[in-house]
Amino acid sequence: MEKICFIIAMHAEAQPLIERYGLQHIQDYFGELPTELYRGVINGKELNIVLNGRMNGLDLIGCEAATLTTEAAIMRLRPDILINAGTCGAFKSKGAAIGDVYLSNGPVMFHDRRVGEEGGWHDMGVGNYPTADARQMAKDLGLKLGKCTTGSSLDMTDTDLNIILREGGELKDMEAGAIAYVASLHKVPLICVKSVTDLVDGGRATEEEFHENLHRSSAALKDACTKIVQYLMTEQPTLF
Ligand code: ADE
Repeated sequence: MEKICFIIAMHAEAQPLIERYGLQHIQDYFGELPTELYRGVINGKELNIVLNGRMNGLDLIGCEAATLTTEAAIMRLRPDILINAGTCGAFKSKGAAIGDVYLSNGPVMFHDRRVGEEGGWHDMGVGNYPTADARQMAKDLGLKLGKCTTGSSLDMTDTDLNIILREGGELKDMEAGAIAYVASLHKVPLICVKSVTDLVDGGRATEEEFHENLHRSSAALKDACTKIVQYLMTEQPTLF
């Protein structure tokens, strides 16, 4: 792979990786968009990290920002592969622990787009946009595999939970579905790498647990992403 592009929502999630590779911030690369680019050349290959940017000093999280970021990143950078790296909530009952790192397994679903059951609208809402086949890579790198499920809130209603359980969702985040949608339109392979900050069935308040573990999970994310970069730049992985 000659050109890798990470899409990351939060600076706290990206900073350890930016520092690991000494990437440079390319000022105003995306013009009037809030989107930010960090770039470097590693062993002759291009490594890009694209962030959603900030509003009022806060990271722009969520699907709207992720959609814009992914479209801009693909059109401007023309990457060989996209990697959506970030944190997620996961299920203790499905074997997850804080700091575990997962790769996406199969399509990415939405759990809070309820548009009815008739005439295909259910499937349209759930999305199920494809990701690249990361099963061999997970095996080779000792990472877990899980199905990503995206929604627009950090917390979760009972309705969201029922949809997640019914559709087999495992890794709850706020961007992967949007990124997978745009990547699928442009036929750019996508892998999501998600580090667990909170256990959605662990009995703790999500926001509190998320902030408590953000630093630790971002360090684990950096370690996994470093292995992924090495793997993609040296092996000829089968991802399709
Ligand atoms: N990011 C980290 N934890 C999350 C959760 N529980 N829901 C959505 N996004 C998250």
